[in-house]
Amino acid sequence: MSKIKLFDPFLDGSEKNAINQVLDSHFWASGAGTGYVGKFEEKFSKYVGSKNSIAVNSGTAALNLALSMFDIKNKEVILPSLSFVSTAHAVILNGGIPIFADIDSQTLCIDPIQIKKLISKKTKIILPVHFAGLPANLYEIKKICKENNLYLIEDAAHASGSSYQNKKIGRHGDLVCFSFHPVKNLAMPTGGLISINTKNYKKISTILKEKRWCGISNRKGITYDVKNVGWNYYMNEFSAAIGIEQLKKLDNLNNVRKKIAKLYNKKINLEHKMMYDENSSYHIFWIRVKKRNQFRKKMSNVGIETGIHYKPIHTFSMYAKNNTLPITEKIANEIVSIPIHPNLSDDEIEKIINSVNKFS
Ligand SMILES: Cc1ncc(COP(=O)(O)O)c(C=O)c1O
Repeated sequence: MSKIKLFDPFLDGSEKNAINQVLDSHFWASGAGTGYVGKFEEKFSKYVGSKNSIAVNSGTAALNLALSMFDIKNKEVILPSLSFVSTAHAVILNGGIPIFADIDSQTLCIDPIQIKKLISKKTKIILPVHFAGLPANLYEIKKICKENNLYLIEDAAHASGSSYQNKKIGRHGDLVCFSFHPVKNLAMPTGGLISINTKNYKKISTILKEKRWCGISNRKGITYDVKNVGWNYYMNEFSAAIGIEQLKKLDNLNNVRKKIAKLYNKKINLEHKMMYDENSSYHIFWIRVKKRNQFRKKMSNVGIETGIHYKPIHTFSMYAKNNTLPITEKIANEIVSIPIHPNLSDDEIEKIINSVNKFS
């Protein structure tokens, strides 16, 4: 019995060709981000319609750098707890205070009503996650940011190719952070990117470029200056070359994911499952089941891999505080991700639907 994987990057021959070109060139990486990295940034900005993009080596690096652009020391950042832990770590690493808001039970994205309740004099940034690829309610969130003079940084790790109000995700917030981890819709060995929409995007881009490469600035030939600390966060040429090929296919691959999501939504007999929305990239398709361990075991026994996204961040010991998030906590005990990648055959999709209906 061959196993149905939860995630599986889609490849055709183009990625292999791209990698061979990088290998043969002997130019594998540059802190300055020239070569394929610069090309990928340009193409990604054009794709999402943003002013500029800075490529980095992970979604985590993108979040860390994006938050470092605002002085959040002892300031509050409002975010959902239902996310990968990097979203909150980025706040802590920049000296900020993560404030977790509850989510909407239908979308599993941060609930604007809950955001409003948590705004204080210390709030500086709203950090929504487009959970599973479904965009958060950016209309309301942008309104809240405007009314309260707050910045909007988006965690779009799941949302390569998602859209909101006819614009690609990456075009809305001040800074939008993507992940190109191999499980993501746009897959690289490792990678991330910050999409920039601020008026002063040129200045922001320059600072971000410095920060992603150890603070190196004013580079002229072999001389340079260092005015601030920075990290080794730059993207390598292999990732960028693969990314360029993956970007060409992204919309088509997301359309395949949407077709599967439509079928799941129609044929899975569960009250609680991810909604169908053509704006979602469907990085994940989630369902909610009562006896989760039993369900996952039965799925595994018939060769279907499932996952849990996520254990809420505020339930980890370092983030445990006394605030309760009733919807997040209820959902966290029931949520299961089922396979939805473009490599699934029709037979496998049917098997997944039948198995979910049988075992849930
Ligand atoms: C919501 C979310 N944010 C951030 C990240 C971090 O991305 P990366 O793994 O590329 O560092 C991930 C990756 O799983 C994620 O799912």
